[in-house]
Amino acid sequence: MKVIVVKDYDAMSAKALEIMKAVVVEKPNAVLGLATGSTPLGLYANMIKDCKENGTSYKKVRTVNLDEYAGLDKNHNQSYAYFMRTNLFEGIDVDLANTNIEDGTAKDREKECERYSRLLDDMQQDIQLLGIGSNGHIAFNEPGTAFDSETHIVDLTESTIKDNSRLFEKIEDVPRQAFTMGLKNIMRAKKILVLANGAGKANAVYGMVKGRVTESVPASILQLHPDCTLVCDEAAASKIV
Ligand code: GLP
Repeated sequence: MKVIVVKDYDAMSAKALEIMKAVVVEKPNAVLGLATGSTPLGLYANMIKDCKENGTSYKKVRTVNLDEYAGLDKNHNQSYAYFMRTNLFEGIDVDLANTNIEDGTAKDREKECERYSRLLDDMQQDIQLLGIGSNGHIAFNEPGTAFDSETHIVDLTESTIKDNSRLFEKIEDVPRQAFTMGLKNIMRAKKILVLANGAGKANAVYGMVKGRVTESVPASILQLHPDCTLVCDEAAASKIV
């Protein structure tokens, strides 16, 4: 894994734009694997600014998102579908018809997982963006997830529910389950870009970069990817330097 340590969140988001933009400029019809969470917000703001000011175009791009809360409609303001529209898609020239995410309200959840995995078979990500959970999860692949997993439903761990509750009115509102791309679907990406910032991620970053490759730390699988870059700030890198 290539590790790039930068000073702070803004520098991380600037470097992330450089990497993402290079993919889109080289291949205007690239498949972008996208992520939610607070970590990529700076990158998304940079992509919007760069699209408006420099004309970098996403017209031909197709996107696949990592995960979605089970039970939340795409218009629910905490759904990841809503997050993507408001934080990125509405600010760039992507065609919404070319954006993909699991349907949180799907009645037949197994069928929805199967649909999404088969969609991913036809849409190998040219780049997959990832954040990391404080317990080492990527997307919603919690500790213990099989490395050969495809899209599946997960029971969120208490620590993830607690971490994510800051975005909901109260902790009881956080859905207990989610759809997530599996680790196998993520590892199929040609290139992976992981972002991490803040001291709260230092342990997870250590496990991802220097720890044993184990299903107990889902992000450790990234050590096996041939083209994975981690861009993190000094606080998140404090245990690996
Ligand atoms: C959620 C998402 C992950 C994300 C993680 C970290 O659990 N499913 O994709 O990486 O949160 O979020 P944040 O970037 O807000 O720390």
